[in-house]
Amino acid sequence: MIDVHSHLLPGVDDGSRSVEQSVEVLGRFAAAGVTDVILTPHIKASGILDYGEEMLTIRQEAYTALSADAPGEIRLHLGFEIMLDDVLGAKELADRRYSLASSRYYLVEFHPSVAMGSAANVIAHIAHHNVIPVVAHPERYAQLNAAAAAVWVERGAKFAVDATTLTEASRRGKRARMLLNQGLVALVAADNHGGQRSIVTAARFLEERECKPVVDALTRGNPQAILDDGEMTDVPPVELPERFFDSVKMFLGG
Ligand SMILES: [Fe+2]
Repeated sequence: MIDVHSHLLPGVDDGSRSVEQSVEVLGRFAAAGVTDVILTPHIKASGILDYGEEMLTIRQEAYTALSADAPGEIRLHLGFEIMLDDVLGAKELADRRYSLASSRYYLVEFHPSVAMGSAANVIAHIAHHNVIPVVAHPERYAQLNAAAAAVWVERGAKFAVDATTLTEASRRGKRARMLLNQGLVALVAADNHGGQRSIVTAARFLEERECKPVVDALTRGNPQAILDDGEMTDVPPVELPERFFDSVKMFLGG
């Protein structure tokens, strides 16, 4: 399995995380069958021109420190999670140091209150530059219904649903499953910040619900396409019974 979105670079994003903590997480990942992780510290689109070079140096130093102690069974790659608080210019969109593992895939997120139409335009703008925007945790956007999501995907977005949220009885979890039901999800990602979050959670959850055929595409095939700078395959719609979640919620009194 390949995780394309985790924050494990010591001293980057979260100054309190140590090399030891990140090594511990990577050890758990490796033991559960994760072979590759793309390390994706946050960066703002508005800041790339100002402090992008500085961030690249900091990222490289942290990567060197982590690589020295990381378990040998897991390959580490570099990327960024780019907050689209501003337009990404042609220069940044041609600079693969800001992409996922030097591919044409860029991991992006929007402000939580972004208007669906303007986000769709931003996605189209990025795709126009021969870059494929991988939208991190799309289920976070409360306004993202099936119709709006279909427009984002049509404009060129690939959805990387949060692996843990997919399994939860929350509104976001429900939205993540709706996206999967609609055949709009391309892959899952851990978004680990030093805790327990892992793509294995989604893989197990889907396997238990007899959705094994899509697990490979979501956790291996499409993430591998990023590493290879190749094409992703379409993931067929997956039916997950919501009643299970509703009954658990009722049982818990939620
Ligand atoms: Fe993240």
